[in-house]
Amino acid sequence: MRKKLIAGNWKMNLHWNEAMSLVADLVKLEHEGGLNNKDIAIFPPHVYLRHAFEFVRNAKSAISVGAQNCASTNDGAYTGEISAAMIRSIGAEMVLIGHSERRSYFMEDSAELNAKLKRAFAANLTPVFCCGEELDERQSDTHFEWVEQQLEETILQLADAEVKKLVIAYEPVWAIGTGETATPQQAQEMHAFIRNLLERKFGKDTSESIRILYGGSMKPDNAKSLLNQPDVDGGLIGGASLSASQFYAIISA
Ligand code: PGA
Repeated sequence: MRKKLIAGNWKMNLHWNEAMSLVADLVKLEHEGGLNNKDIAIFPPHVYLRHAFEFVRNAKSAISVGAQNCASTNDGAYTGEISAAMIRSIGAEMVLIGHSERRSYFMEDSAELNAKLKRAFAANLTPVFCCGEELDERQSDTHFEWVEQQLEETILQLADAEVKKLVIAYEPVWAIGTGETATPQQAQEMHAFIRNLLERKFGKDTSESIRILYGGSMKPDNAKSLLNQPDVDGGLIGGASLSASQFYAIISA
């Protein structure tokens, strides 16, 4: 059985005091109510990572900490970049790769994402690899082909041992930050489609072991119906992860 993973992608939000009180509030809710048999991860901006990690560790919290991005190169003369090895060295355990905002605003293509995956594996970080179609593809009914191509160029090229360490997030771009969400049926059929692609390439055992999260306006009121789908193994939450009570309501769903 795949344990559900609820991950909070804070994006470029929250200043120092707000970020640290969010971590403290989450840990408090965890201590009061537990984590409902789920794995939880938070993805704060880089500048808060070490403090967030120290806070959860000192509080004996089970929450994992991850980064929102890593460089596609090793350490070196790349002003402004942050390497996967640096992220691992401060204690973080995961990294988001291929988020649609990175793909569209920072022109990250499959070649770049593959390089990032390689760095993440080498640094022993768990990548959360994002994929998903735009509204155009959904409306023209080419969303399955689109996602297949995104995966064909990236994670379907990985070695068996690597892909087993991966988490996938299906995030239809039209649902991210829009308040519009995929229906549970739409999410389930895409997740089953992705798992089938994994099975064809890596076999049933591997495909059954990989967690596929849904992301795109997951909120306390729609979380349960999405998370109840057999192939939806958790959520990647943006907006609702910035409020401890909303994020915790999704964890409790
Ligand atoms: P959202 O963001 O929950 O605000 O739609 C999800 C994401 O971008 O990961």
